Amino acid sequence: MRKKTVRDIDAKGKRVMVRCDFNVPLDKQGRITDETRIEFSLPTIRYLMQQGAKVILTSHLGRPKGAVAESMRLDPVARSLSGYLKISVPKLNDCIGPEVEAFIGDMKPGDVVLLENTRFHAGEEKNDPDFSRALAGLADVFVMDGFGSAHRKHSSAYGVAEYIPGVAGLLMAEEIEKLGSLFEHIEHPMTMILGGAKIDTKIGVIEKFVDKTDTFIIGGGLANTLLFAAGHEVGESLVEKDKADVARSLMKSIEVQGKRVLLPDDIIVSDTVDEHSETANIPLRFIHPKLKILDIGWKTTEKASEVIRQSRTIVWNGPMGVYEYGPFARGTRMIAEETARSPAKTILGGGDTVDALKNFDISFDQYTHVSTGGGAMLEFLEFGSLPGVDILQDAD
Ligand code: 3PG
Repeated sequence: MRKKTVRDIDAKGKRVMVRCDFNVPLDKQGRITDETRIEFSLPTIRYLMQQGAKVILTSHLGRPKGAVAESMRLDPVARSLSGYLKISVPKLNDCIGPEVEAFIGDMKPGDVVLLENTRFHAGEEKNDPDFSRALAGLADVFVMDGFGSAHRKHSSAYGVAEYIPGVAGLLMAEEIEKLGSLFEHIEHPMTMILGGAKIDTKIGVIEKFVDKTDTFIIGGGLANTLLFAAGHEVGESLVEKDKADVARSLMKSIEVQGKRVLLPDDIIVSDTVDEHSETANIPLRFIHPKLKILDIGWKTTEKASEVIRQSRTIVWNGPMGVYEYGPFARGTRMIAEETARSPAKTILGGGDTVDALKNFDISFDQYTHVSTGGGAMLEFLEFGSLPGVDILQDAD
């Protein structure tokens, strides 16, 4: 699936709307705690500035549900971009309307502007044609570079390209190429490492890859739900009890295919979740009903490492425990380090996974591909494409 990219268009003097995924994590003071998505957006922005385009950046941030939310304005993103680009990037107070039109009308080639959070308008998530048309009217060309949002059929990520030509940005093109190549040829043994909290987002990718995967390594809240569904005591751990049936049928489809599932059989537990938590590494069967499972145990980690060492293809999405706190970071760190050392094709993604690598100071260069998408990466792997990819112009 080759899509046209920014390199295939003449952007000189054109108004180019670039949909980025600036949905970055913010702390309570509104400071960005992880700028990866901004950093990964820079090549396309710089390229278009050099080409003499008038660069109009759009993004959502958070889930403001169609109304203005002061805490979800894009000002911190504009400040961050200004630092990277070494120019002052103005941020407007809306993403459509007369003031935005007037500002864009005065832009010169090479200028950059960031529009306000597109989700402040109810039309955005509905892919409302009026809202899409209003956005499209601001530009001559649409560049989709927000891979992390490409699974959303929303106006700014999809609808705009129904009205003006849409091409892929450089980040987007790389994501499509690297993730797409996974379907072309899988070297075995293939291991899929899945963690994080929610089972729903992982079902599709497990089912899609169950016949191609040799071993599933499962940790995090996802493992708790599978263990609970299999009748194990999980104490007060994070678990989706209402998903027990889904979990059982998922395990069944993996077993029917004769694939190996590595679930934690020893665990790190505690009754508190902070930097000073006292922990114990115990066999799963010894868990006390008042304790929480907060990481995979040492033996499980060793077994997982062994599987990773023998793998030729590794896909990883979601941490093994509450990696944000030192006492529960070991499992995720060991998986990250083992995967980094592996000569296998290694594809990683998901906000928490990427954040964990940053916390552990592990360079992204050590992996074949680190995706900026969480849900988008899983859906791309499940369906082989995404709405925000499909809508772009084909290369041929
Ligand atoms: C993400 O962070 O996964 C993307 O920015 C999409 O955000 P959303 O799940 O709120 O649509």
